[in-house]
Amino acid sequence: MSYSLASFASRDALDRALCARVETILQAGIEDRGQAFCVISGGSTPLGFFRLLTKSDLDFSKVTFILADERWVRPDHPDSNEGAVRRHLLQGPARLATLIGLFQEGLDIKANAVSSDQIVQALPLFDVVILGMGLDGHTASLFPSATGIEAALNLEGSASVVAIQPLSAPNARLSLSAQRLIQTENLILHLTSAEKLAVLKQAEACQEAALMPVSRFLNQSKVALQVVWAP
Ligand code: 6PG
Repeated sequence: MSYSLASFASRDALDRALCARVETILQAGIEDRGQAFCVISGGSTPLGFFRLLTKSDLDFSKVTFILADERWVRPDHPDSNEGAVRRHLLQGPARLATLIGLFQEGLDIKANAVSSDQIVQALPLFDVVILGMGLDGHTASLFPSATGIEAALNLEGSASVVAIQPLSAPNARLSLSAQRLIQTENLILHLTSAEKLAVLKQAEACQEAALMPVSRFLNQSKVALQVVWAP
């Protein structure tokens, strides 16, 4: 299955278009079902989008954000995705939203993965999933050649949340699995830079998803992938 690619002249234009699209999707979910569920990623790419979304006039009391993945650190750790989302997204009107993080105090990572798996399994279809990508072709915390990556990328798998130890990035991780991340009607890959566009093209040709996990999302036929990119 191919993907759609929308290119924007600037990162600001991309962030504004992405924010408008996500607002429309979430508003429709609220109108149809009284609540809406949005999966968001960590890293630096989404921060401009987050800052715009905080200004939305959505009824955030009816919006639940779910982290696509987490560095397995406390929310007050500088590497924490939950900490970054609380600082950059759950501000202003958006502070009324619910955030489902993945790190759980007092559990080892395996028990944490099991507990978070039960929480995420109980959630409905996501209204929208927004993924990022690293230059190694990882997305969420589905890292190349990581132990357990084959199971985490299995679209017929059962787990919704997996523990991942990247070979090439700091921190043990928790990640939503590929099969859970594509349980949405709106799957968006948010990229910036020429380098990431080149990696996207490499991933499109990649036949072994474990080597470039983002390729699993490019080459699946369950949900159309929308790539949004700016230089
Ligand atoms: C994380 C993210 C990860 C991120 C990519 C891109 O925990 O870091 O979930 O998948 O989307 O690493 O990160 P940048 O946006 O910082 O390039």
